[in-house]
Amino acid sequence: RVLRGRPRDLAGRKVVISAGGTREPIDPVRYIGNRSSGLQGYALARTAAARGAEVTVVAANVALPDPAGATVVRVESTAELRDAVLAAAPAADVVVMAAAVADFRPAVRHDSKIKKTDGEPEAIALVKNPDVLAELGELRRTALGPEVIVGFAAETDDVLANGQAKLARKGCDLLVVNQVGPGLAFGTPDNAAVVLVAGGEPVEVPRGPKEDVADAVWDVVASRLA
Ligand code: CTP
Ligand code: CA
Repeated sequence: RVLRGRPRDLAGRKVVISAGGTREPIDPVRYIGNRSSGLQGYALARTAAARGAEVTVVAANVALPDPAGATVVRVESTAELRDAVLAAAPAADVVVMAAAVADFRPAVRHDSKIKKTDGEPEAIALVKNPDVLAELGELRRTALGPEVIVGFAAETDDVLANGQAKLARKGCDLLVVNQVGPGLAFGTPDNAAVVLVAGGEPVEVPRGPKEDVADAVWDVVASRLA
């Protein structure tokens, strides 16, 4: 799809977008993953490029054609995603964390495939992953960080209240809150969202293509950069 009729209001801006979902290895053949397809992150990448930005996508396990006009860095685990995002962030004007990042990973990555035994399996112990979005907020406080930081949150309950609390906690400028439900969010071309803005009015995006959510984000980002 060719994207026309957009303002070139991100011209000369460097934008980093994480997309997809991380996988945390258990052993050489298994992982703990999530349902993120990368569709929303790739819509952000296409629309940002159409609006003139120089776009880098950090793609975690995305099975989609590369977004036109973007550089794609492929990663699997949260550790790899963190390295790629933090490497690109100092030169970026904007970082958007659209990826679903695993909160936990197995404490041990087995070098050999875990085999079935006679008894019940052992539990998989988990440890906490670093919070990349919160780290970006910290980085900015040292003046090395991007000018605008955007987070995403998929919530099932108390969507707006949880979103506002998360916006404050993570130290980002925008938080895009999705309600997860039938026909929305994971793996579907459509999305509906509220863009929460630190110190500003929320922007409601009615159900529609993921490009609509992306353009609503870039509208607010462009006004913040101006
Ligand atoms: N995120 C991140 N690093 C993590 C977890 C999440 O950078 N280890 C980012 C996501 O990319 C997203 C935002 O933080 O932009 C919010 O993710 P979410 O899972 O909703 O927030 P959490 O703080 O992990 O809270 P919870 O899962 O408990 O709701
Ligand atoms: Ca989480």
